[in-house]
Amino acid sequence: MLVGALEVDSTPEKGHIPMSAGNGWIRVGTLADVPPGESRAVKISEGRSVALFNVDGRIHATDNQCPHMGFPLTRGVVKDGVLTCDWHGRSFDLEGGGCFNYECDDLETFPVDIRGDELWVQAGDATYRRRDQHLQLLWEGLLSGDSWTISKATALLLSGGVSEHDIVQLVLRHLGRHVASEQDAGGGGNIVSLLVSGLEVGRRYDGEDRLMALSLAGRAASGRASERLEVITLPPPVRWEQIDGWVRMFSRNMQDFRIERCLHTARENGQESHIFKLLFECAVAPYFLGFARNVA
Ligand code: FES
Repeated sequence: MLVGALEVDSTPEKGHIPMSAGNGWIRVGTLADVPPGESRAVKISEGRSVALFNVDGRIHATDNQCPHMGFPLTRGVVKDGVLTCDWHGRSFDLEGGGCFNYECDDLETFPVDIRGDELWVQAGDATYRRRDQHLQLLWEGLLSGDSWTISKATALLLSGGVSEHDIVQLVLRHLGRHVASEQDAGGGGNIVSLLVSGLEVGRRYDGEDRLMALSLAGRAASGRASERLEVITLPPPVRWEQIDGWVRMFSRNMQDFRIERCLHTARENGQESHIFKLLFECAVAPYFLGFARNVA
């Protein structure tokens, strides 16, 4: 088990300024900077830092900001390839970055290259490529009515260049389903006026003020609808051995959504035939292991 960072400062050490070599590859330090079992944050540009984790001699690199509320992930815990943030406990596949929870964006992970004793990370060019994930996050927020998730998703979409029109379209689609399935004949009018007023007010402002009005309009339109969240697959690479270990761990901790996302990924990866045996073992193992402990 890797207990997070001994070194958690996001400022690079003196003389440890990342060097760039094209194609987004950046030198972020040396192997000696991240001993086995430890992690380290390296600032690579203004407002952006990479978290390095040494797990049994293998270096992993991820964005250091937790996608949930930005806590430094070097303060998290890594166990069985799962990185768990120390603040609210969101957990991520350390390799592919998939988040195992509701209402949390996936984590960006980066390729690592070891050149001699130097560590190089391909941190990408910060081009926005997560439109679909952030629309999904907004939808999750609309279904749960969680203001923070709605605001965060809206802010990410707007800063990524997604038009207000596209955001409002998703909110309206959700509102239609919410009113149709959860409100009586006259119950939707109030919500619609709140939404329209929020959008109208938002048009008179810019920047954060506009975001606030738009988010509140989304909040007004949120609520249950007769549908459940779509379960999406974990980003690759995800091997069956990982899923097997995670499902056993999440089963012991009774974390059902995490199990569901793992199993959905396995089915999409063509590993459906393994699932029944795994679930059977998860179901019966606690009984026999618990019994064995009693006998002992
Ligand atoms: S900031 Fe990481 S779980 Fe909330």
